[in-house]
Amino acid sequence: MTKMKKRILTGIQPSGILHIGNYFGAMKNAIELQEEGETLLFIADLHSLTVTPKPEDLRERVKRVALDFLACGLDPEKTLFFRQSDIQEVCELTWILNCLTGLGLLERAHSYKDKIAKGFVPNNGLFSYPVLMAADILMYQSNLVPVGKDQKQHLEMARDIAIRFNQTYEELFVIPEPLISESVAVIPGTDGQKMSKSYNNTIEIFAEEKAARKKFMSIPTDSKGLEEPKDPDHCNVFQLYKLFATKAQQEEMAAKYRAGNYGYGHAKQALFEAYMDYFAPMRKRRAELEKDPEFIQEVLKKGAENARGIAEETMRRVRSAVGLR
Ligand code: ADP
Ligand code: TRP
Repeated sequence: MTKMKKRILTGIQPSGILHIGNYFGAMKNAIELQEEGETLLFIADLHSLTVTPKPEDLRERVKRVALDFLACGLDPEKTLFFRQSDIQEVCELTWILNCLTGLGLLERAHSYKDKIAKGFVPNNGLFSYPVLMAADILMYQSNLVPVGKDQKQHLEMARDIAIRFNQTYEELFVIPEPLISESVAVIPGTDGQKMSKSYNNTIEIFAEEKAARKKFMSIPTDSKGLEEPKDPDHCNVFQLYKLFATKAQQEEMAAKYRAGNYGYGHAKQALFEAYMDYFAPMRKRRAELEKDPEFIQEVLKKGAENARGIAEETMRRVRSAVGLR
């Protein structure tokens, strides 16, 4: 008997412009996995509603996320690529899972507590965010879910909810496993803390060249003079350079840091160039894709049709299991 391919699913919120933290922390991995299993990737527009974005902004960002993913190498022939809200069944499943989710479980969510601590006005959507995420994962009977470390707890909740369903009704859901790439767990931003659009410390994947250069040049460093030896391991410029450089290039720059007579300005320029080179083929592809917005709409439409096939089958079984049909 041939072994079934693992189903790998992940989602990304269209909540801002994609940055290199998203790329190295999530997108790259998700794109590479399309060679390994049956992959599904969706744009989590329903999740973004928890912060009530302007409708036109939301629509624009969905398009931009789709464009950026395709430019970065997502192959819609290999990955089922769709918009979350195109599969309305996910809201029905969320309700059913809500009724199996203890309040205590949701109250322990770090991401919810963090948001409150940052002054977000909590709404019920924000509170029950992990249940919608569980519905996303369970709907498609996903085996593996590649996410950043910050989403680990949400994955544990999805597992708990799936187990609860299977015990309460019948063994219907696959219990998903997280897939967290430890080596690129947290990409630092220009200020050294986690790169995040909420901290205003991001470098966009497709930033305009001049703006990108300015961003790199403004990365804060210590005040060591040009001739002084420097410590690469405690320098944010070097940490970012590592993302784009080969081992040999990294060692070369580290040696220059330690030798002295190598200024932070030089390192920043090298970092900027490495960034531009790294994303150059993707920029080219992006420019091509931008000329054909119809293509992106077609990709998402076709993706939704295929995803709906899986969702309808799951929901038939779920409705029957819980006594709705
Ligand atoms: P942001 O923090 O900018 O709001 P999101 O929360 O939308 O980013 O993250 C989208 C995906 O990118 C998630 O899988 C998340 O784990 C990953 N990610 C975001 N920022 C980083 C980072 N600095 N390092 C590693 N992964 C990241
Ligand atoms: N919560 C995830 C994030 O902010 C996005 C997401 C929504 C997701 N549904 C998902 C990720 C399902 C993996 C699987 O990054």
